[in-house]
Amino acid sequence: MAVYVNESKKLFTLSTAHTTYQMKVDEYGVLNHLYYGENIGQEDMSYLLDYRDSGFSGNVYEAENNREYSLDTRPQEYSTCGVGDYRVNSVSVVNPDGTDGVDLRYVSYNISKGKYSIPGMPALYGDENDADTLQIQMQDASTGLTAVLYYSVWEERDIITRCVRLINQGEGDIVLKKAMSMNLDLMNGDWELMHFHGRHCMERQMERVPVIHGVMEIGSVRGASSHHHNPFVVLCEHTTTEVTGSCYGIGLVYSGNFAMQIEKDQMGQTRLNAGIHTERFAWSLKQGEEFYTPEAVMTYSAEGFGKMTSNFHHTFREHLCRGKYKHERRPVLINNWEATYFDFDRDKILQIAEGAAKLGVEMLVLDDGWFGKREADVSGLGDWFVNTEKLKGGLKPVADGINQLGMKFGLWFEPEAISEDSDLYRQHPDWALQIPGRKPCRSRYQLILDMSREDVRDYLYERMTDILDSANIEYVKWDMNRHISDVYSALLPKERQGEVTHRYMLGLYDLLERLTSRYPNILWEGCSGGGGRFDLGMLYYFPQSWCSDDTDAMERVKIQYGTSFAYPISSVGSHVSAVPNHQTGRITSLASRGVVAMAGSFGYELDLNLLTEEEKNEVKEQIQTFKKYYHLTHEGEYYRLTNPFENQMFAAWEYVSPDQTEALIHGVQLRAQPSSPSQHIPVRGLNPDKMYEINGEMVKSGRAIMYGGLNLPRQMGDCMAFEYYLKEV
Ligand code: GLA
Repeated sequence: MAVYVNESKKLFTLSTAHTTYQMKVDEYGVLNHLYYGENIGQEDMSYLLDYRDSGFSGNVYEAENNREYSLDTRPQEYSTCGVGDYRVNSVSVVNPDGTDGVDLRYVSYNISKGKYSIPGMPALYGDENDADTLQIQMQDASTGLTAVLYYSVWEERDIITRCVRLINQGEGDIVLKKAMSMNLDLMNGDWELMHFHGRHCMERQMERVPVIHGVMEIGSVRGASSHHHNPFVVLCEHTTTEVTGSCYGIGLVYSGNFAMQIEKDQMGQTRLNAGIHTERFAWSLKQGEEFYTPEAVMTYSAEGFGKMTSNFHHTFREHLCRGKYKHERRPVLINNWEATYFDFDRDKILQIAEGAAKLGVEMLVLDDGWFGKREADVSGLGDWFVNTEKLKGGLKPVADGINQLGMKFGLWFEPEAISEDSDLYRQHPDWALQIPGRKPCRSRYQLILDMSREDVRDYLYERMTDILDSANIEYVKWDMNRHISDVYSALLPKERQGEVTHRYMLGLYDLLERLTSRYPNILWEGCSGGGGRFDLGMLYYFPQSWCSDDTDAMERVKIQYGTSFAYPISSVGSHVSAVPNHQTGRITSLASRGVVAMAGSFGYELDLNLLTEEEKNEVKEQIQTFKKYYHLTHEGEYYRLTNPFENQMFAAWEYVSPDQTEALIHGVQLRAQPSSPSQHIPVRGLNPDKMYEINGEMVKSGRAIMYGGLNLPRQMGDCMAFEYYLKEV
């Protein structure tokens, strides 16, 4: 059992292999957060609550003459609103009488074996050997608003997951204006925030900045988690590195609007609040109704970012990813998008497949353009009927032809989108999100379907199952190519319009659950103009996501570096594409494009028939290499060896087998230098006492290799790949 309760002290301790998380109910029924950090057993940490009278920080009424007791300074487990804590809050409401106060006090607790689940939303899953769950019930005595705080403790994995269920147990109607998934108050420490910002084609650029006095916020109001910010942050010390120092990693299992607010208060304490963004959010809770927040996942590492990443990668692979491809090797694919864009027919696709099959590619993915009137991105979305002018005889002959080559066949969809120039829009204009009387914002010439509507979801389910049953389709790429604006749902009354963006997500998750459970053997890949919805919510349905529309190896090194902090290598869709690169015009070596793409779910995004014989042979070898090392790249321990935002010369990363008998180091010399000094690649994760053969040549101890490093191979040219394979002898 990982949850300990000291009844007399009302002390709750969550214990994992290396961490302790502790909270305590005080004499006024307030739930104080006491500690999150290295494992300290069950020792009572309430001695840390050492607060003085602080002017202009008011005192709870029951404290009478005690001016030292203020909600404004004490660490809260789930911070309240309007009753004396002026920092960012976890929950805010409009009460039946129009006031906004929420004052949650302790009522009871409950402990159970196993992991809680959240109705209709993605969450980590596990049985009673994996996690224990603590529920703490809090209530506002004057309104009856009840908050149940859920904690699942993953003892072996150093992970704690949280969510909150808000129930209206009062007399009148309440409107939730803010309902965060978690609050974390750190009494001490001088923290830095690491987060992952970006834009289309440049997702998850790492940025690390000191937490300032005031509020810092990252988030999305775009209706998708977005390219611009990722629902994952790290709080770390100034000195934290990959291998040393403290850090907290926090991710949201959610794919829509989100906010992560970080506040350093007057006392220098740090608060982190994470959950659904308040913009366009207002959820009506009638008497007896309840609302679940999305899940938040936390880990603490005292051994730097590497341990944090390891905790996340293992947990997400085991307890978030589902379906046949959770561990099964993913087929090496070829996608026709950059090879043809919209300009293809059946013969051209079969030709691309044929050329690829000869080199060992195992699946062809037919991308955008196979349906409706879709010669360009201006029309056709929503009309999920095969374009038989392009694909004579429909999808079946294409799939059969590809199967005959010994390859699997996969297909692209963008179900959430609708073109104004489509039969679907002409029949159902109210199915698109738009505000009556106002012209909607167009993005990529398209609108978004109202996924909160059941009739819309039923249409998509019927269309997609019809297509998926019509041919042997073994992979689906689920794309979403614009962000949400003009939010209005024709089926909801005006007082519920503030629910649309979250109802959109609940609707989307509902459809994804129906489809992925009907086709558990299909390999599902998420996508949103590349990596615009690369988040833990999507990972529950899709074990991989297209990481970025930018396939340039030099740029991908950075994008994949940022992505790796939370997301497992197996979840990263990554392809070798043509040069000059279509996004940057850069020419890079085929070898560098290969090693970069192998740090993900590997494939090609070009017409391989156009390569020289020499290049074709290199592709053949790449595919063999990917298969040979799959057990390391996708199932091994992953290490970032350099930071490409700092080291401009070379980037390196490593995969080590769980038994430490094998390791693979891949990397790219980013820039060549004349008369360059010798450079050494730092190596990690080996057994210091074992001997390793390096690339079948030199033998050295794990100790020597780790403490001395390996020499950066001498190569001329920018963006040149290198590889070291280490085997214990
Ligand atoms: C998005 C995807 C691409 C491709 C196109 C098709 O941009 O990220 O990979 O599928 O859509 O329109």
